[in-house]
Amino acid sequence: MEVIICRDEHQVGVLSAAKIAHIAVTIGPGIVLGVATGSSPLATYNELKRLTQRGHIRLGAAYAFALDEYVGLPADHPLSYHEEIRRTVAEPLGLDPIRVYVPDGALSGLSTAGQRYEDLIRSVGGIDVQILGLGENGHVGFNEPTSSLTSRTRMKTLAPSTRQANARFFPNPDDVPRHCVTQGLGTIMEARNIVLVASGEDKADAVAGVIEGPISAMCPGSVLQMHRNTTVFVDENAASQLTLTDYYKAVYDDLPTWQRLDLV
Ligand code: GLP
Repeated sequence: MEVIICRDEHQVGVLSAAKIAHIAVTIGPGIVLGVATGSSPLATYNELKRLTQRGHIRLGAAYAFALDEYVGLPADHPLSYHEEIRRTVAEPLGLDPIRVYVPDGALSGLSTAGQRYEDLIRSVGGIDVQILGLGENGHVGFNEPTSSLTSRTRMKTLAPSTRQANARFFPNPDDVPRHCVTQGLGTIMEARNIVLVASGEDKADAVAGVIEGPISAMCPGSVLQMHRNTTVFVDENAASQLTLTDYYKAVYDDLPTWQRLDLV
């Protein structure tokens, strides 16, 4: 796992986008992106938008797969993840909506939603680069603590703390859905590259658990320690509970010029 400690959230966005852009250039137009909702990756999307506008990358033929969706919110509900992905990712990056996928959270198709999503991901050859945020409880996607480390896309029940954290978006805390359909940890682990972004002190414990903690279903993101190509971009606050900070900084500072993301 590569750990890059950034000055601030803006630099998290700049460097993580540079990493993704590098992968996009290598893979070419049909790249398959895994995209996350939430505030964490917004700086990354902003920077990717800038890179597309300047012609450094072209994503018009890219595929995108969201991590998760609430159960029971219609796809066109303003707070659905279908809508959030359209607003924060697909439109700014110029993705073709026909190649943007979000799990189906409709009550009517729940028993098959997971398998249908897995089949779709497989039909395009799997995800080239998965962008991840991180919940304060260590969740990635909506894989709450005690999720199976090999789980596949399926319905999950949200942890009370997750519903509380997401209540800020809803008119009333009781309106936050109780269930979701989320890619599993096993699904996420099949992405060929993973870019995790986290900023702010609220994420510090979870970041420490993911990077330095034992691999445990109690901190679902810790499964990423078993992934070959994961890069974690954190700001100083999110990095504040790490013990090997000096080492991560030294590794980055000593990178040969051609590997340094800030020179991209
Ligand atoms: C949400 C999402 C995750 C996201 C996380 C953190 O509920 N399901 O994909 O990474 O919680 O959100 P934020 O980035 O807003 O802190």
